[in-house]
Amino acid sequence: MSVKWDNYFAERTKHITGSQIRQFFALTERPEVISFAGGFPGNDFFPREHVARALSRIVMEESSQALQYGPTEGSYDLRELVAERMQHEGAACGVDNLVITDGSQQGLDLLSRILVDPGQPVLVEEPAYIGGMSAIKSYGGVPCGIEMDGDGPIPSKMEQAIIKLTDQGRPPKLFYTVPNFQNPTGITTSLQRRRQILDIASRYNLVILEDNPYGPLCYEGEVPSSYISLDLEDRVIYLGSYSKVLIPGIRIGWMAGPKPLIEKITMAKQTADLCSSTLGQQLATFLSRNGYLDRHIVRLAELYREKRNAMVEAMKFYFPAGVRFNIPRGGFFVWVEFPDYYPTSRELLDRALKQNVAFVHGEGFSSNGGGRYCARFSFSQPDIEDITRGIKVLGELLHEVEAGCTLKAAGH
Ligand SMILES: Cc1ncc(COP(=O)(O)O)c(C=O)c1O
Repeated sequence: MSVKWDNYFAERTKHITGSQIRQFFALTERPEVISFAGGFPGNDFFPREHVARALSRIVMEESSQALQYGPTEGSYDLRELVAERMQHEGAACGVDNLVITDGSQQGLDLLSRILVDPGQPVLVEEPAYIGGMSAIKSYGGVPCGIEMDGDGPIPSKMEQAIIKLTDQGRPPKLFYTVPNFQNPTGITTSLQRRRQILDIASRYNLVILEDNPYGPLCYEGEVPSSYISLDLEDRVIYLGSYSKVLIPGIRIGWMAGPKPLIEKITMAKQTADLCSSTLGQQLATFLSRNGYLDRHIVRLAELYREKRNAMVEAMKFYFPAGVRFNIPRGGFFVWVEFPDYYPTSRELLDRALKQNVAFVHGEGFSSNGGGRYCARFSFSQPDIEDITRGIKVLGELLHEVEAGCTLKAAGH
């Protein structure tokens, strides 16, 4: 008799569901598909030679620590470098305020594990990063979306949500945010908003989870000060990552926060993985020293800016006038809003896939059933020629859709 695995899964795993995005990545991986779906860094931008040379040096010439288990909280050298970086950005962060993680996704998982109780509401942006919401949900948390405008989450909506949940006897304790070039909308929360949100957090005793993988990839102007650098009350936990600015393959990120929190996270991490990849940590350390990483980030910003421009220009040229989109100042994502008389973005995606173009429909990013007429477009992976070609194909499709809608409205 074959095993019925559903009967074996622990009760707490009932909240663990696969990501819709991951499930349809298999489709988008076909070589003929131009994919705006994945939020992956551009393969062409990986510093292969630097990585190869550094790895060879680390393995052959440095001590054997790079091949050995390491401390759960991460190597001292890397934490020291990260602490310097955080201090440079205005955060009061010492080595003991840091734990190295297996990418920021592990940070989200560990934080959910130690901060989220089943049934607990967690404030998130609307729309929000799917991986953040999945982590919260997998421990039974309930993401509650806070509406955003071009300046970030709207403080009055946040306050209303807190009051409503508190009246229901479920006061929220956490707010999860991606303040720079947000995934999925590309929106950057303004400095004024950050101050207002910190003020709300202080008045209602919320902790802010600040997830910032895209901040260094800024194509115009500067990013506003981070929440952690503005905070005077130890109520911000910050997640950083080497995935988008170096390579995701090393799976190295970090969490910065108050010491009691970092100690608890370190204990939880002991059972998760004993320690993050020591080889990956040494590589990140090696490439951060002597300014290599900083120079690489400057170059990356130039290259991604060109891709962003190609996507935005093509959308302006090929998309029907009623289709709206923002112009992100950094990161990987353009958020598109279709008119609500169009078919849903899920249906548009089905039609686009038939023409070998992929994007992500908006529903998966919503905690409240929204996003039906929205979609996330990532310009990070395809080359500039494919970006223009893919948007042109979609533009033609959308013009057909628009014409069909007009005929229908005219009663034909
Ligand atoms: C907002 C956000 N947070 C976290 C992650 C996870 O990144 P990492 O590779 O550091 O685990 C991603 C990856 O796409 C992301 O977009």
